[in-house]
Amino acid sequence: MGIQSAFIKPLYPFTDSDHEVGVLSINQLPQYGLALDAEDAVHVDLEAARQVEQLLRHCPAYRTTPLHSLPRLAAELGLRGILVKDESTRLGLGSFKALGGAYAVIRTVIVEASRALKRQIEPKNLLDAPVRSIAASLTFACATDGNHGKSVAAGARMLGARAVIFVHQGVSAERVDAIKALGAEVRRVVGTYDDSVAEAARACSANGWAAISDTSWPGYTTVPRWVAQGYTAMVREVCNELRDPPTHVFVQAGVGGLAAAVLGHLALTLERRPRFVIVEPERAACLHASSLAGHRVAIAPAEPTVMSMLECYEPSLVAWSVIAKLADAFLTVSESDGIRAMRQFARPVQGDTPIVAGESGGAGLAGLLSVVANRVDRQALGLDRESVVLLFNTEGATDDSVYRSLLGIGPDEVRSCIRAGISSKKDHAGSVDQ
Ligand SMILES: Cc1ncc(COP(=O)(O)O)c(C=O)c1O
Repeated sequence: MGIQSAFIKPLYPFTDSDHEVGVLSINQLPQYGLALDAEDAVHVDLEAARQVEQLLRHCPAYRTTPLHSLPRLAAELGLRGILVKDESTRLGLGSFKALGGAYAVIRTVIVEASRALKRQIEPKNLLDAPVRSIAASLTFACATDGNHGKSVAAGARMLGARAVIFVHQGVSAERVDAIKALGAEVRRVVGTYDDSVAEAARACSANGWAAISDTSWPGYTTVPRWVAQGYTAMVREVCNELRDPPTHVFVQAGVGGLAAAVLGHLALTLERRPRFVIVEPERAACLHASSLAGHRVAIAPAEPTVMSMLECYEPSLVAWSVIAKLADAFLTVSESDGIRAMRQFARPVQGDTPIVAGESGGAGLAGLLSVVANRVDRQALGLDRESVVLLFNTEGATDDSVYRSLLGIGPDEVRSCIRAGISSKKDHAGSVDQ
């Protein structure tokens, strides 16, 4: 059983008085520490990341996203360093998800076109007329909380294919509009994210559409593995820049695809494997619940969480297979901690770079702040003055009005601070010493 703690006074100077400490559970699953299955490993290893990089080289919008160091916050928290991979600008779509769904769409087109044209299609041939005409005959569909749907829509549009995106009732109008702006048709589904996944799967089999799901289940694993493989390009960028390898990684999870890519790639490629902590909103902690149950479980839907992209009630089958072996601990964070982390990113300790983090983007930092506030949890994870923690700001302000309503300032104001700050000091680095 894990270490549990609640309502412990924070050690760091936040103004909010309702800070809660999350529930931390150390991984005690029987598969913990076992080697990855070969099929899991080949989708997150070095070669997997290289395959994605090869495709990205053909994408004019591709740029490496920044890796920020937050030395002042680290000093305040009694750590050696904090590194933040900032996905808020990824491919103009505002989240790391831009890498996964679009990659799976491209892989599907390559498979279909290679079969139809009876020759192996290479990335450089993707925009050739015969390939485009095959892509134009395909419809791609998925369910989404927002970001994955944008990625699938963008991938389909790039290749001239059709996209139909299923969203549940909780997805904001602004996020739906962002998907429509990429040329996709959007269909609303009554119920939760999981209901939209079921409806997308049903529509795909009824209409012969290609399902590009970021979650997996028995009998449907290939495409979600490609989606997670797409994310490895982000992890590779981090590794390419690292001068101080992290001792700890806090990564947020919905169905676990992101965490599987991060944990899998780092465990397989770094000389010394860091400790991995999976962070979930307490209102949608299906991986945490699965770790306590001893196997993958679906949990009952609860109240919606503000960390809406993490609102998932059942882990992805293939992600769980990786996470169960590699995660060192599972941690839940409260709603107020999620918002506090967004604010901490936007209004950092003086001298650190401001970062625009959307509601789900700050969850990893929320987890770190929660753990360092509790001596027992902190010791359990071995977080001390020698620790370098890697975090992922997985999204920017993907809904401006939600961002403004939660923080009282708009993302533009934070961005203007970033511009001013960057001109006065050097920031981007894989080194924690600034
Ligand atoms: C911004 C953001 N962060 C984290 C996640 C979690 O990713 P996964 O569902 O693969 O665990 C998502 C998923 O949509 C997301 O959009």
